[in-house]
Amino acid sequence: MAMILSSKLETCASSLLQSSVLRPCEPTCSCLAVVPFQGSKSLGVLRNEGHSKFANERSRGFFVSTRATVTTYIDVDSESSSQEDEETSTSELLCCPICFRPLSRVGPTGLTSAAIRSSGFSCKSCRKGFVNEDVYLDLTILEGNKVYDESTTPGAEIFRSPLVSFVYERGWRNSFFWANFPGPDEEFKMAQDYFKPVAGGVLIDVSCGSGLFTRRFAQSGDYKSVIASDFSENMLRQTDQFIKQDASLATLNIALVRADVARLPFATGSIDAIHAGAALHCWPSPASAMAEISRVLKPGGVFVGTTFVIPIPVVDFGIRDVRRAIKGVINSSSIHFFEESELEELCGTCGLVEYSRIRRGQFIMISAKRAQNI
Ligand SMILES: C[S@@+](CC[C@H](N)C(=O)[O-])C[C@H]1O[C@@H](n2cnc3c(N)ncnc32)[C@H](O)[C@@H]1O
Repeated sequence: MAMILSSKLETCASSLLQSSVLRPCEPTCSCLAVVPFQGSKSLGVLRNEGHSKFANERSRGFFVSTRATVTTYIDVDSESSSQEDEETSTSELLCCPICFRPLSRVGPTGLTSAAIRSSGFSCKSCRKGFVNEDVYLDLTILEGNKVYDESTTPGAEIFRSPLVSFVYERGWRNSFFWANFPGPDEEFKMAQDYFKPVAGGVLIDVSCGSGLFTRRFAQSGDYKSVIASDFSENMLRQTDQFIKQDASLATLNIALVRADVARLPFATGSIDAIHAGAALHCWPSPASAMAEISRVLKPGGVFVGTTFVIPIPVVDFGIRDVRRAIKGVINSSSIHFFEESELEELCGTCGLVEYSRIRRGQFIMISAKRAQNI
């Protein structure tokens, strides 16, 4: 079937084919977004590098929404769906952050930055496309939003700044020595001990910052794939820069995914190992984050995280409100200090078992496993 397009829409469409999905094609254009269209068999996804090739080789269906909220389906040729089926593979791990259904993928398979950059992802049920526009694949709920945005807590927002992201590994991280953090090399070795049972699997370094542990995990050769994930766009850009500066990392399976730890875009029970270095105290909701970590871990999958603990136990005289008030004062800064017992309880609450920890002063490394299915 072929529809004749108006010349304006044609201009919009070709512009969009050369730019990206879900973006206005030019400032003066009335075209607002292109939403992947799920035809009877095929799903059209257009993206930066890959889509012009697909669009030139064969036509595919997609919606153009205009500012007048008119949605027009442009179908130049729908006879190529069987060929498209061959190219459209459902990624095993990557999920829609809205509905958690697996994302469809058009492009090469694999969890490497290169393969992801050459792919387009979409959620068939939410009709939303996700593209690797920057150096990372953005799988946050608000990806592509132009108007509505949200800022999180100061403890999380500070790391989105380009300056803080730049100085983080160039000095900021060393300041954790005051709390007896052993330093990245030693922390990496300690984490690796906990991850031994899941060697060979897929590891996500959530809240990876500038990727100081991501690089070490990838270089170890102990994992099939390493996914560097953070909410901060600028931290991910730093991660990418550090990776590019190290030739030994060029051929390794490292993917960069922007994600909120409290809404992880990964399939339930799909991940072997999750690392969260110096991050729990920055998360807006550690409980939501730990629940997500537990959800995406495979049964027996291992979580390792480090954070700060309160130097002295909180004396609450057995009264919950007193405890809450004391913790409120201690945590009035942007960083959240935990009690050891809280961390253990949090893991248990979220279905993580075999809790273990290493403590030095205010530094703590915790580890727990996703309970096996009964
Ligand atoms: C102190 S840095 C830790 C970086 C690194 N893992 C390390 O060990 O040094 C904390 C990181 O948590 C990230 N973060 C804060 N809130 C987050 C969220 N909701 N989802 C994912 N990452 C988040 C920040 O962007 C920041 O990169």
